[in-house]
Amino acid sequence: MTSIAVIVGSTREGSFNLMLGDLAAASLAAQGAALTRVDLATFDLPLYSAALEANDFPPDAQRLKDIFAAQDGLLFVSPEYNGSLPPLLKNAIDWASRPTGGEGLVALTAYRGKAAAIMSASISPFGGLRGLMHLRQILSTIQMLVIPEQVVVPNAHAAFAEDGSLKEALPASLVEMTTGRLVAVARALSG
Ligand code: FNR
Repeated sequence: MTSIAVIVGSTREGSFNLMLGDLAAASLAAQGAALTRVDLATFDLPLYSAALEANDFPPDAQRLKDIFAAQDGLLFVSPEYNGSLPPLLKNAIDWASRPTGGEGLVALTAYRGKAAAIMSASISPFGGLRGLMHLRQILSTIQMLVIPEQVVVPNAHAAFAEDGSLKEALPASLVEMTTGRLVAVARALSG
């Protein structure tokens, strides 16, 4: 079974990206993926510092890295903050990129050669597109294979129905298309 983790870059109550993450997770599960939800609110991740890393690697950073390392693919769903990704998500990505347990300096064992997909919901008319461009570049830098399909949900404050579904057909179909491709690529790369 293909394992995929969903990581959302917002812990805000009522977060539109958490809602989008819920839809993507349901779609991944429907397509046969073994799903792990990563709730960053449950991880005690200090702001990355080399001193912390050298003296006492945070247990939750290791826990996050272990979860990522166990997956065939990762789906990142993130808000855009000032044209980029939020520090919450960048910090999590950075911690899990660090070598532990005697790995080489550029081991990147949680990420290398795995499939990734990206999505964003934003209250702006652009749907967080600029943030996704940064996120795509970062994930490529850490040697993930980021699929070309992606999802932006513009005007997120008006995009979701009461039951959490997307009102418009286009972003809803993009969620299906993107999760389907992620599962297929993650399966192919892990086989
Ligand atoms: C934002 N927001 C935002 N939106 C956007 O489309 N482009 C941007 O550059 C920014 N910049 C930005 C900076 C900061 C510091 C904050 C707090 C917010 C608005 C953002 O899209 C909105 O708050 C979303 O609702 C956040 O996502 P969640 O928490 O609903 O998932």
